[in-house]
Amino acid sequence: MTANWTHQTIWTGDNLYIMRGMNAASVDLIYLDPPFNSKANYAAPIGSKAAGAAFKDTWTLSDVDAEWVNLMEAKHPALHRVLLAAMTNSDKSYLAYMAVRLLEMRRILKPTGSIYLHCDPTMSHYLKLLMDAIWGRQQFCNEFIWYYSGGGAAKKRWARKHDVVLFYANGATWTFNADDVRVPHKWQSGQLRADGSERNYEQGKLADDVWQHHSLMPWARERMGYPTQKPLALLDRIISASSNEGDMIIDPFCGCATACISAERLQRQWVGIDISPKAAELVRTRMQDELGLFYQGAHRDDIPRRTDLGKIPRYNSPANRTTLYGQQEGNCAGCGVHFEARHLEVDHIISRGKGGTDHIGNLQLLCGSCNRIKGDRGMEYLRVKLQL
Ligand SMILES: C[S@@+](CC[C@H](N)C(=O)[O-])C[C@H]1O[C@@H](n2cnc3c(N)ncnc32)[C@H](O)[C@@H]1O
Ligand SMILES: [Zn+2]
Repeated sequence: MTANWTHQTIWTGDNLYIMRGMNAASVDLIYLDPPFNSKANYAAPIGSKAAGAAFKDTWTLSDVDAEWVNLMEAKHPALHRVLLAAMTNSDKSYLAYMAVRLLEMRRILKPTGSIYLHCDPTMSHYLKLLMDAIWGRQQFCNEFIWYYSGGGAAKKRWARKHDVVLFYANGATWTFNADDVRVPHKWQSGQLRADGSERNYEQGKLADDVWQHHSLMPWARERMGYPTQKPLALLDRIISASSNEGDMIIDPFCGCATACISAERLQRQWVGIDISPKAAELVRTRMQDELGLFYQGAHRDDIPRRTDLGKIPRYNSPANRTTLYGQQEGNCAGCGVHFEARHLEVDHIISRGKGGTDHIGNLQLLCGSCNRIKGDRGMEYLRVKLQL
């Protein structure tokens, strides 16, 4: 499927709604470095190029999250079980927030595409469960460790010195350019292979899943002062290994667009999304430094319209009713009672007032009585009323 946006686009807005508007199977590689649920607020230092950029990293269960949890209970039971494994409401809220977005990422990836989720050990085990539920365990390729040795020490435990990047392939085949990311041998000469032949040290050796590289130094030229900015060298490795020239790459939490800069240098196509308007400004500055007057990139803040669906059928169209009746095996999604098709009504799981769409993924069948009790509210409300 072709992308319904152009190369070199930066979007300002919530990536959930923007990705929902993107065509299915239109991206080759996704890199995301989302907030971690670190209970911290990040702000860029005054005076840095990124001054004014800030984002919160604390989560509380809101109405909207509760509706997402409902959506997953109805449509993705395996994912829902992972949410139930969360230890606190804050974690549950964070995981629901991530789960709905990862579902969109799965949809926009090409069958040959792959995804790298960058996180830290506070949430990586939960995020891996989410990804297993969405992609399947067999699609897990690596837990790539970025070991950033350097200052900072801990007296009561081991110093925390690594991030985790979870790498999943979308389908049975994927791009991996192992020769483009070889690393130097520890010993440069003298060692022979088991069969007695000489090693070719020039070429370097195939890389493993632990990569040592210092974090961004305060004096680094690439440093924008953006909180949580990642080094270009990390993105260069990921993009070189898992995409080819001309491929489309998306970073849905792009910050100061490290992934986009790396993609540009490596002659890939790219699109970045960030909720902070400051990010778009920084990308423009960085790209202009990179490309000078040749930079023609687009800045958008609208929600794209998918061009791969034809027309979405009316939410209560006969086609939707038949599909949903089959999926639910004729049972009301509220009380669970079996009904003839004509006694079931099509309901929006997330109401339209809260951004729910007419797409079949957001629809379910309820009996008339459940539908009236629920109204525009969530399934939680219906369940309490039904005392389920
Ligand atoms: C950890 S930072 C990414 C840093 C980036 N990798 C870099 O090198 O600059 C996470 C980013 O996600 C953005 N963000 C948070 N929630 C978002 C959402 N719902 N949609 C889009 N961006 C979001 C924040 O504004 C922040 O810039
Ligand atoms: Zn019912």
